Amino acid sequence: MNRLSRWMVNRGAGRRARRLLARLEGHLPIRPGSAILELGAGRGALSALLLERFRPRRAVVTDYDPRQVEAARAFLGSRPAGIPEGVELRTADALQLPFPDRAFDAVFAIAMLHHVDASPREYRQRPTALAEIRRVLAPGGLLVYSDFSKVPELRQSLHGLGMVREYSRPGWFGRELAVYRRPFDPAGG
Ligand SMILES: C[S@@+](CC[C@H](N)C(=O)[O-])C[C@H]1O[C@@H](n2cnc3c(N)ncnc32)[C@H](O)[C@@H]1O
Repeated sequence: MNRLSRWMVNRGAGRRARRLLARLEGHLPIRPGSAILELGAGRGALSALLLERFRPRRAVVTDYDPRQVEAARAFLGSRPAGIPEGVELRTADALQLPFPDRAFDAVFAIAMLHHVDASPREYRQRPTALAEIRRVLAPGGLLVYSDFSKVPELRQSLHGLGMVREYSRPGWFGRELAVYRRPFDPAGG
């Protein structure tokens, strides 16, 4: 994103994150001590709320853009709680996640899935990002996303990956906030 887009995205992030979490109330069975990954975290406004709310054992706050990672580091570090132990900030490309299989109990991808293609709104790469997310989710783990474009195709990709929809809330202009679960493997693995 260019400087102006980053400024605009980061400016209203706190308000949006609080609203988002309120909408998810009762739909996020994430236990204290879980491992959480946030993709395209921007300035870390949601990350701060997730840390307070879920007290994860491990939280990895990532963005493709190192400037956003530094913005998140500055924001999280400025809070009275600072950056707790177990919180890692790093760059990560949703198309090639630098994490082992089944590493996380929940993955958050808020307003970022439409960014993964080189050209905006191309969506050819989005299934790759979704497959990566599924790969790093533990069986039973949750994907939480919010996105606004080509949502039926997004759902179709997730369905094709065997992900099960647990919650969906439609918004303006085709936007959807949703929670999907990676099912437990039939063999119990
Ligand atoms: C619209 S912003 C949303 C930021 C934050 N989630 C929020 O809701 O305020 C999209 C973010 O996705 C990041 N991004 C773009 N392409 C990405 C990719 N391939 N992998 C991970 N993050 C990416 C951008 O750098 C940007 O910070």
